[in-house]
Amino acid sequence: MPIDAPSDKNLTATLRFLSMNPNHTSRGRRCSEIPAQNNEQIKMEATGMRGGLIHQSKAAACTAVLLGLYLFFSGAGAWAREVRIIAGPYLQNVKKDGITIMWETDVAAPSHVDYGETKKCELSHSSDDLVTIHEVTLSGLTVETGYHYRVSSARAQSEICSFKTAIKKDTPFTFVVYGDSQGNSRGSPQRASNRHQRIADEAASWKPDLMLHVGDIVGWGQNGRQEFRDHHFGPGRELLKNVPSYMALGNREVNAPAWYDYASTPEPEHENYYSFDYGNVHFVILDSLPFAHIHQSGFWPKPGYPGSRSALKGAEEQMKWLEEDLKSADATWTFVFFHHPVYISADEGGTQESLKQRVVPILQKYDVDIVFTGHWHFYERAHPMKDGKIDHEEGILYVTTGGAGGGLERPSPAKGRDFTAKLHRRYHYCRVEIDGGRFDMKVYHIKGWEPGEQIQSAKILDTVTLRK
Ligand SMILES: [Fe+2]
Repeated sequence: MPIDAPSDKNLTATLRFLSMNPNHTSRGRRCSEIPAQNNEQIKMEATGMRGGLIHQSKAAACTAVLLGLYLFFSGAGAWAREVRIIAGPYLQNVKKDGITIMWETDVAAPSHVDYGETKKCELSHSSDDLVTIHEVTLSGLTVETGYHYRVSSARAQSEICSFKTAIKKDTPFTFVVYGDSQGNSRGSPQRASNRHQRIADEAASWKPDLMLHVGDIVGWGQNGRQEFRDHHFGPGRELLKNVPSYMALGNREVNAPAWYDYASTPEPEHENYYSFDYGNVHFVILDSLPFAHIHQSGFWPKPGYPGSRSALKGAEEQMKWLEEDLKSADATWTFVFFHHPVYISADEGGTQESLKQRVVPILQKYDVDIVFTGHWHFYERAHPMKDGKIDHEEGILYVTTGGAGGGLERPSPAKGRDFTAKLHRRYHYCRVEIDGGRFDMKVYHIKGWEPGEQIQSAKILDTVTLRK
C-alpha cells in the first residue's frame, strides 16, 4: 500500500534523538516506523514549542526554522496540522466476543478506540502504529450486547457510534442486502440524485444486525481509495458506522488493492471469498469474477488478476474451499452471496453457464437455501431452481439485487425465461428477517421516499416467506 507518512529515513537523520521501533506493523498496513509517542515530540520540536529548543541561540533558532520549513515542504508537515478522518468509522467481522473497527485518515496517525456499554465509553484500545487505514480489533466482549464507541487519531475524533456483538444461535435478527450502488453520488446529502445514500439511510433506519453488499461498490475501481470514499463510505456512512458490513467483489472493483485495503474478512488467506456464522445462518461470500466471461475491456481484468486465462487455478481453489466450508456448516440456513447472477433476464456471454457448471452443483449438493447476486441493475427473483428446472421442493432461490444506485438497466424480454418469478426495474434494497426456521424478506423500492417521510411509505416490490 502507498506510504503516506513522511520519510522516516530523513526524519531519523534530522531528528537523531528519536528512537526507532522496527516492530510496528498492522496487518500489512505498515506506514511508518516512528513510534506514535513521539508524534507530539516531533510536532513540538518542529514548531519550536518545547523549552529545549526555544531560542537558546541564533543557531538553534535557525535550525528550528529550517527544520520546520523542511517538515512542511517535505510533507512531514502533516505532523503539525490536523489529522482528518476521511472514511468511516465502519465495522467488520463481528463476532460473539469481538469486532473489528476501521477508519481512514488523510495522513498516517495512531489508532485509538474508546468503547463501552454506555456512552461514557469507559474502555479503550490504542495502537501506536502510524497508518492511514486503521484497523482495531476489540476482543473479550459480551455476546449479543450493545456497545458504544468512538474512534480517534491524534486530535481527529469521530462522533459516538454503536455496534452489537454477534447474537446467540436462536436469537431472531435482520440483515439488509443490496448491490451495484456504484458511483452515482459524491457522498453529499444535498444531492437529490444520491440514490445510494437514500437507500443506505433508509436501510439504516431499520437498525439491521448486518449489511451485505453483492459487489460493484464503486463506479470504475481504477481510482483507488477515493472512489470508495465517494461511492461507498460517504453515502453509506450512517449505515456503515453502526452495522457490520460484508462485501463481495464485483467487476467494478477490478480486484484492485483498494478493496483489500478496506476489507477485513474472516479469511485473511483469501479475503475475496469467506464465510461466517451469525445466529442460525451460515453466510458464504464468493468471488464470481473468475467465472465471468464478459470483461469490460479497458479496465478489467486487472493485470495479474486470476480471472484471465490463469483463472482456472484460482477458481478451483475457491471451489475446493467452498465444498469444505459447506460440508462443515451446521446452521439452519445457508445463504450465499456473489456478484454475477446465475438466473437473470439478461445475456452475459457464458458467465451463467460457467456458474451453473462449476458453482451451482456444489451449492445444490450442500442444500444452500438462497443465492444473492447483483451485477444487473434491476431486481429479479427466480423460482426455486434445481438442475436448471423449477423445483419448489428442493430448488435454490436465486435473488438478483443490483439496484442500489447504478443506472437502471433493461432486462431482456422474458420469452424463454420461465425461471422468472418477480422482475422489477427499480432502485431497491432487500431486508431479511430470520426467526428460527422462518425467513421473511421484503424488497423496498425507494422512489417517492424523501428524507423525513415515514419509512413505511416505501413501496414493497416483493415479499418472500420460507419455512423450515
Ligand atoms: Fe457488475
